[in-house]
Amino acid sequence: MTRATPSRTERPKVWFVGAGPGAADLLTFRGAAAIAAADVVIWAGSLVSPDVLVHAGADAQVLDSSALTLEEVAAVYDRAVAERLVVARVHSGDPTLYGAVQEQVTECERRGLRWEIVPGVSSLGAAAAAVGRELTVPGVAQSVVLTRLATRTSDSMPPREQVRELARHGATMALFLSCSRPRALQRELEAGGYPPDTPCAVVHRATWPDELVLRCRLADLADRVRAARIHKQALVLVGPALADDGARSHLYHPAFSHEFRRATSVHPGATAPLHEPPGPPVDRGATAPLHEPPGPPVHRGATAPLHEPPGPPGADP
Ligand SMILES: C[S@@+](CC[C@H](N)C(=O)[O-])C[C@H]1O[C@@H](n2cnc3c(N)ncnc32)[C@H](O)[C@@H]1O
Repeated sequence: MTRATPSRTERPKVWFVGAGPGAADLLTFRGAAAIAAADVVIWAGSLVSPDVLVHAGADAQVLDSSALTLEEVAAVYDRAVAERLVVARVHSGDPTLYGAVQEQVTECERRGLRWEIVPGVSSLGAAAAAVGRELTVPGVAQSVVLTRLATRTSDSMPPREQVRELARHGATMALFLSCSRPRALQRELEAGGYPPDTPCAVVHRATWPDELVLRCRLADLADRVRAARIHKQALVLVGPALADDGARSHLYHPAFSHEFRRATSVHPGATAPLHEPPGPPVDRGATAPLHEPPGPPVHRGATAPLHEPPGPPGADP
């Protein structure tokens, strides 16, 4: 293990824990250890299962963040400094996606309070799993655009990132926080050039007991979302990779050799077996070899927090 396991001895400290999309058994071991180490657990009660709280100590103070402002959370961080507390701030999915985590990191750094992010299973992976489709099908789509429709917090949305602009790539798109305006969403996707029969999937409350998966054509997206009365806690996946007829990968093709296997045949259309270029080991789950270019560590940059707007009946806070 290369990173420290969260412990009560490392204090004061804030752990930003990704709780996963819903089902409590998708919390990571490290996330559970951070919750267990905490004197104070602040959890997103509107999106995180209460079952993750079984990991909290009997004496831990438990606060629901859906009722708190950033200032009130920051007051807990003040207390963490003064009383040398461990805090677990439990976010839905992965904290780094629409998690409003950056503003809290800033609050920690202002106080000289140590912090660490524990990654979580995002609703992106949970939704794709529920649909049963790979989002990066060779020859069909090799990119996934994670975005949202501009809504009440439209000033969060840089103009170059309008859904219609991103849709022009025709890649797979995953739209968070966008089901309160399904007609606008459909219009934007169509304006970006996806044909009306582009396959879509809407996954509502992925991994929760009442998970709902809708599959439809883009032309029917808004009607289907409205008819199912979905306004929040849903991820929309769009793009040709969601069609049922996927292409096959190079990686497992008998004509493709790589570090762990020699080609045994010639790929149709090729004159000789395909060889992976020499390099570091491939990710064996990938559809093509994945190499990380050497480079300096990525700097943690600040971005504006993004919140889902309230939608008709009871949108996510
Ligand atoms: C504030 S964002 C948090 C995203 C979270 N950090 C993640 O990684 O999934 C909330 C939005 O994420 C998506 N979402 C979160 N949990 C979901 C779930 N279980 N099923 C489907 N979508 C979900 C929805 O688009 C929801 O409106």
